[in-house]
Amino acid sequence: MPSIDVQWTPRGFGQTARQDRWWVQPLLVFLGLSAFFVYANWAAFQGKNYFFGPYLSPFYSPELFGSSPHSWFGPKPGWWPAWWPFSPAHLILWAPGLFRVTCYYYRGAYYKSFWADPPSCAVGEPRQHYRGEHSFPLIMQNVHRYFLYIAVCFIGLLSYDVWKALWFPNPATGRESFGIGVGTLVLATNVVLLGGYTFGCHSMRHLVGGRKDRISESPVCQKAYDCSSCLNRSHMLWAWMSLVSVMFSDVYVRLCAMGVWTDWRIL
Ligand code: FES
Repeated sequence: MPSIDVQWTPRGFGQTARQDRWWVQPLLVFLGLSAFFVYANWAAFQGKNYFFGPYLSPFYSPELFGSSPHSWFGPKPGWWPAWWPFSPAHLILWAPGLFRVTCYYYRGAYYKSFWADPPSCAVGEPRQHYRGEHSFPLIMQNVHRYFLYIAVCFIGLLSYDVWKALWFPNPATGRESFGIGVGTLVLATNVVLLGGYTFGCHSMRHLVGGRKDRISESPVCQKAYDCSSCLNRSHMLWAWMSLVSVMFSDVYVRLCAMGVWTDWRIL
């Protein structure tokens, strides 16, 4: 059997023969993810200004317990620990957060940007051995497929929020009437972008058809697989657009609730 000798030359951290600006992308990823992490945590700890009229911030949806009209089970529960500040976001944000943290795209991105493993392709890293994801703790990344199921439920819940964002209190009749505000469009855009990210997930491709040996024998699976694959081709783009949109949706609702921004009605 023919064989090829591959010479591996250890490199020092950051050493490379690359001539391009390989460090730009990991740096941008580091800055982007850090900014999102800081903002999301700040917003989650606020516990207020997360709703405005029919709008609910996606960081707080579904609101299981809370003081807004969107709350499912009423106000802050009695069992909430006194030493931890109450925020409805703390009950639910772990699910979409872990879905993103374990995403195949984000893993590749933050392994490079946050712990230089390696900093970029063909660039020396600050360790001698490949550690991989075959042992604890990184083997836990395999739970991604299960968080996909939860993420799909979140898409349904956020879609319902968009439906609710179409119904505004009408002081003349004392009932709700149909309308579209800028906030409605912001929340709707967010769901579309989150849907593009979620339904283009690598695990979704496997779920809807990739697991079959002969997918062509099932036209429905074939179609679903093609659609998911189409979204998957731009998975990185969907990941970033949806990350920005979910953050902007919270900013929008928050600033409207604080009276800083006016929610213009289109209809
Ligand atoms: S691989 Fe990115 S969301 Fe599943």
